[in-house]
Amino acid sequence: MSINNTSLRSYQNVTPELGAKVYIDSSSVIVGDVNIGDHSSVWPLVAARGDVNIIRIGKRTNIQDGTILHVTRKSEAKPDGHPLIIGDDVTVGHKAMLHGCQLGHRILVGMGSIIMDGAIVEDDVIIGAGTLVPPNKVLASGYLYVGNPMKQARPLKDVEIEFLKQSADNYVHLKDEYLAEQ
Ligand SMILES: CC(C)(COP(=O)(O)OP(=O)(O)OC[C@H]1O[C@@H](n2cnc3c(N)ncnc32)[C@H](O)[C@@H]1OP(=O)(O)O)[C@@H](O)C(=O)NCCC(=O)NCCS
Repeated sequence: MSINNTSLRSYQNVTPELGAKVYIDSSSVIVGDVNIGDHSSVWPLVAARGDVNIIRIGKRTNIQDGTILHVTRKSEAKPDGHPLIIGDDVTVGHKAMLHGCQLGHRILVGMGSIIMDGAIVEDDVIIGAGTLVPPNKVLASGYLYVGNPMKQARPLKDVEIEFLKQSADNYVHLKDEYLAEQ
């Protein structure tokens, strides 16, 4: 666990929790009910605000620079609201915005993409750079999605599916180098 800074902030007495060997850049801000799994990493200028609902991030997942993570509160119409759940071995590219959605395992969220409340991304999916995923859409396992609004582009090639794990592994290695410098 690396807490070297003021990145981790309590909200209503709930403090973010980190697993083993997590890397958190000191310029990021992580607030409230946020759990981050072992070997995950949070890069410069990320904002993750677990105030009106929870944020859960799995293991070996990287949240790249400038990404915003937020949630929607519970209401009568929507008793669970929209928490943000991100699985294991997920790569979230630079300046993505993930709001109240659920992501499975081994997913690439392309740079600048926006994923809205209630959307579900199944395992082994690539979302191209700049894609808009509207509320409540379901992205099927094994496909590439691109565009605004997103469209299913084509099935992923085997090499692309292998790359999803490799991308996560690359970031585990990179964050270990950063941790070694602290
Ligand atoms: C979508 C992507 C995976 C490439 O898919 P691809 O099918 O191999 O794409 P190609 O380069 O063969 O291009 C196919 C077509 O899709 C278009 N295209 C490529 N990326 C696109 C994107 N993100 N959104 C919309 N269209 C895209 C190309 O312009 C091309 O169109 P054309 O046939 O009219 O010329 C890639 O461009 C991408 O967006 N990767 C995300 C990278 C990233 O953000 N990583 C995180 C930071 S490390």
